[in-house]
Amino acid sequence: MASTTAVTASVSLPSSKSSRIFSPSSDRVSFHKKTSWSLRNAGRLVAVRAQVTTTETDSAAKVEKVHKKNVEGLTVNKFKPKNPYIGRCLLNTKITGDDAPGETWHMVFSTEKEVPYREGQSIGIIADGIDKKGKPHKLRLYSIASSAIGDFGDSKSVSLCVKRLIYTNDAGEEVKGVCSNYLCDLKAGDEVKITGPIGKEMLMPVDPTATVIMLGTGTGIAPFRSFLWKMFFEKHDDYKFNGLAWLFLGVPTSSSLLYKEEFEKMKEKAPDNFRLDFAVSREQKNDKGEKMYIQTRMAEYAEELWELLKKDNTYVYMCGLKGMEKGIDDIMVSLAEKDGIDWMQYKRDLKKAEQWNVEVY
Ligand SMILES: Cc1cc2nc3c(=O)[nH]c(=O)nc-3n(C[C@H](O)[C@H](O)[C@H](O)COP(=O)(O)OP(=O)(O)OC[C@H]3O[C@@H](n4cnc5c(N)ncnc54)[C@H](O)[C@@H]3O)c2cc1C
Ligand SMILES: NC(=O)c1ccc[n+]([C@@H]2O[C@H](COP(=O)([O-])OP(=O)(O)OC[C@H]3O[C@@H](n4cnc5c(N)ncnc54)[C@H](OP(=O)(O)O)[C@@H]3O)[C@@H](O)[C@H]2O)c1
Repeated sequence: MASTTAVTASVSLPSSKSSRIFSPSSDRVSFHKKTSWSLRNAGRLVAVRAQVTTTETDSAAKVEKVHKKNVEGLTVNKFKPKNPYIGRCLLNTKITGDDAPGETWHMVFSTEKEVPYREGQSIGIIADGIDKKGKPHKLRLYSIASSAIGDFGDSKSVSLCVKRLIYTNDAGEEVKGVCSNYLCDLKAGDEVKITGPIGKEMLMPVDPTATVIMLGTGTGIAPFRSFLWKMFFEKHDDYKFNGLAWLFLGVPTSSSLLYKEEFEKMKEKAPDNFRLDFAVSREQKNDKGEKMYIQTRMAEYAEELWELLKKDNTYVYMCGLKGMEKGIDDIMVSLAEKDGIDWMQYKRDLKKAEQWNVEVY
């Protein structure tokens, strides 16, 4: 039976501009947790990686599908656009520096336990107002940035990490993205229409001994903050992470490094279980003078990453800009080739085994 446990962790949300009505005592938040999912499947993981050789592909195909991610009791689409959950904004704070190219905000909405979600899921948001056709705005999806118990540890809230979209169109006019600007402008106390939760691709592995490699660009960090809070800032009676979590985060400038202090705190708490690598594209270069993208940083650890990828309990997650996927494939192709392996086939097998998980946009 699950028991309730509590632990404290510091929250770092640097706020040059911020808005909140819920105020945890100073910067410390107390977490209380009841967990429901079980580790039942953890001992029965299927080694589908053997599919890389042709003879074993057929036999592996016959193996009954065993989910390696925490899908038990998952809630999907409880709230639909016609009947959204009406939450309230509890806090909204800018987490990028004033000189960063673009603004990213961290926001927390009340859910009163009505929107149960898991780490790695997303919610939909319907912005107030109407579109050019006079119809209500369509929902936009956002990856959830808090763990299942929320930033306040009471399972009564959900957090997002949202980039304010502003661009110049072909006519030279400044255009503001509908929903991201609506969200970034929310004030504490404002109502917000929430749909979902949705998504299974980015759910965390059940296995607490897993190696979890997280590749995020910009706001693609959201699901990884969710994973990492569960791994390092919370106590669960049925989940104690003691594997390896390795986060690669790509951002344009050091003033746009999202949740940096939180991740550094995690590293202090669990130096043997957490690795943290940043790629700051407009400030750093590699030895060849190339721009430091996330895949450029990963290339520094290419052999090590490739060895990790050969393990049955290594899980890779990728989230953020679509362009990063190709860059990462490119380094994997050459690594796999050295072992005589066709990367694209290998990746397909990893995907089947739920070990290669991608949500890019
Ligand atoms: C699964 C999923 C999860 C997501 N998670 C997050 C998240 O955690 N955080 C986050 O910030 N976003 C996230 N997004 C993106 C989010 O859903 C929205 O697409 C984003 O906020 C923009 O919506 P908007 O309403 O502000 O812009 P819209 O008003 O919808 O405008 C966007 C449109 O503007 C045009 N456009 C955009 N940029 C340019 C440009 N530079 N030049 C010309 N035209 C352009 C394109 O046509 C684009 O479709 C996620 C998307 C998906 C699919
Ligand atoms: N689940 C999802 O699908 C999901 C979740 C969250 C966010 N998103 C989307 O992800 C995107 C993140 O954008 P953002 O504005 O938050 O990010 P950002 O702050 O602009 O950071 C993106 C980083 O990626 C770099 N980059 C650009 N092209 C790249 C490439 N081909 N390969 C690797 N890195 C590359 C950028 O470098 P330069 O700018 O210096 O070139 C920058 O350093 C948004 O489009 C958002 O809507 C999707």
